[in-house]
Amino acid sequence: MSGAVAGRLEAARRACFVGRADELELFEAALHTDEPPFTLLLLHGSGGVGKTALLHRFRGLAERAGLPVVRVDGRDVQATPNGFRSALAEALDVPDPPGVPGDPPGVPGDPPGVPGDPAGVLGAAGRAVLLVDTYESLTPIDGWLRDEFLPRLPDRVLVVVAGRQPPAAAWRTDPGWRDLVRVIALSNLDAGEATGYLRTMGVPAWLHRDLVDVTHGHPLALALAIDVLRQGDAAAMLERMGAPDVVQALLQRFVDELPTVGHRHALQVCAEARTTTEAVLRAALDEEDVHARFEWLRRLSFVEHGPHGLFPHDLARDVLVADLKWRDPEVRATLHRRIRVHAMTRLRAARGRAQQLAALDFLFTEYSDPVFRQYWNQWDTMGQALGEPAQPSDRAEILALGIDAAVSCSAAGVSAAIVSVGVNRYGHPAPEALGRLSATHAEVWRTDREGTVTVTVAESTMTVRGRRSVRTYSIRP
Ligand SMILES: Nc1ncnc2c1ncn2[C@@H]1O[C@H](COP(=O)(O)OP(=O)(O)OP(=O)(O)O)[C@@H](O)[C@H]1O
Ligand SMILES: [Mg+2]
Repeated sequence: MSGAVAGRLEAARRACFVGRADELELFEAALHTDEPPFTLLLLHGSGGVGKTALLHRFRGLAERAGLPVVRVDGRDVQATPNGFRSALAEALDVPDPPGVPGDPPGVPGDPPGVPGDPAGVLGAAGRAVLLVDTYESLTPIDGWLRDEFLPRLPDRVLVVVAGRQPPAAAWRTDPGWRDLVRVIALSNLDAGEATGYLRTMGVPAWLHRDLVDVTHGHPLALALAIDVLRQGDAAAMLERMGAPDVVQALLQRFVDELPTVGHRHALQVCAEARTTTEAVLRAALDEEDVHARFEWLRRLSFVEHGPHGLFPHDLARDVLVADLKWRDPEVRATLHRRIRVHAMTRLRAARGRAQQLAALDFLFTEYSDPVFRQYWNQWDTMGQALGEPAQPSDRAEILALGIDAAVSCSAAGVSAAIVSVGVNRYGHPAPEALGRLSATHAEVWRTDREGTVTVTVAESTMTVRGRRSVRTYSIRP
């Protein structure tokens, strides 16, 4: 995104921002004193309540005070220490720290002072602000951040962390942190603030009361109501607003009234891809000129933009995927496939941090797979699905991954392929895939025939055991 456009968007968002006076005052006071009453601000609140919007305002205040600001969004981070340091290095525009990527998860951080250590670079900046958004995705490294990473930052660095869940008890009970932390629970806008927002956005006064009542001042719901109003029919919108889930009802109304099929497809790509750039849109739609639709997407209230592209609010994504899936399954399948191919192409070509992001994008194409949903949709497991380069010791697990993985392993000279498959409606394993597999020398173990298949790896052998047979293979060192 060009700097000028990003600047204009930012100015527009600032102009629409309402309320949060206490939080802004608290933060501003901390910026302007040498001994702030806290060094870590933990913000929490439900999806769409306005955490990211508030962080944007914090950023503006810090920049106005002339301080360097670094922002890391948990959704672009592999939740390992190295993943975090790598994202921070990118935000600071310094090279990836040593050991990234490929170190196993849980490796402690570099000792302070290691060249290129992003914590060291941040500390050396003097007074600075670190903003960490979408913290619920970083739950797996909550302990590491608390016990290892943040304590190594100089107390001149003011840190703000925003997530959907209240902070773990350890932040408040640890005698070290207790005095340095301030916890703030964000809630909906009050009636006056919500009315002010609607007024700023040019919503006719006769609608204010009803809109504030049905949205209860929930910022995302209010913003969505405005998008729907722009489509034209206020009465039809209000009719939908009686529904128990206002966000869902508004989104449904929005997708029902999309201006053209082209807009629908663009929205579909945005819902299916983890992040959408113009390149993703071009590849998915198989069209050259997608600029206007990308701009349209970017202006939607439920679409956020970060340094790696656009993404819809999680609350919106579910509704969009479900709607677009039943509306035109064939088109959806085509777009989905192209998004996957695009992510895989980037994954193969990229290195370092760019490869980590491409891995996240690729994994995300499994968003609607029931197994993967456990990882993406629950705050305590989100971020645990990682893409890291395979190590020799991962071989046995890779074999068990699935039929595509099995084919590539077999091609590399592995002798057993485990196809994890149960009774299913999808025709798995696909006959073509089995055909390809039989062209290799790998022996196929199917869990629908062999029951649970276990693999025991010893130094130079691998024993595969199923319900009906057992076999030992020699493996290369
Ligand atoms: N104080 C505010 N004034 C005006 N608009 C706001 C305010 N807070 C939030 N909004 C708008 O509401 C929408 C949702 O806000 P935001 O993205 O900040 O929520 P969030 O808490 O970060 O949600 P999530 O947990 O899903 O990341 C955005 O379109 C944002 O611009
Ligand atoms: Mg957010």
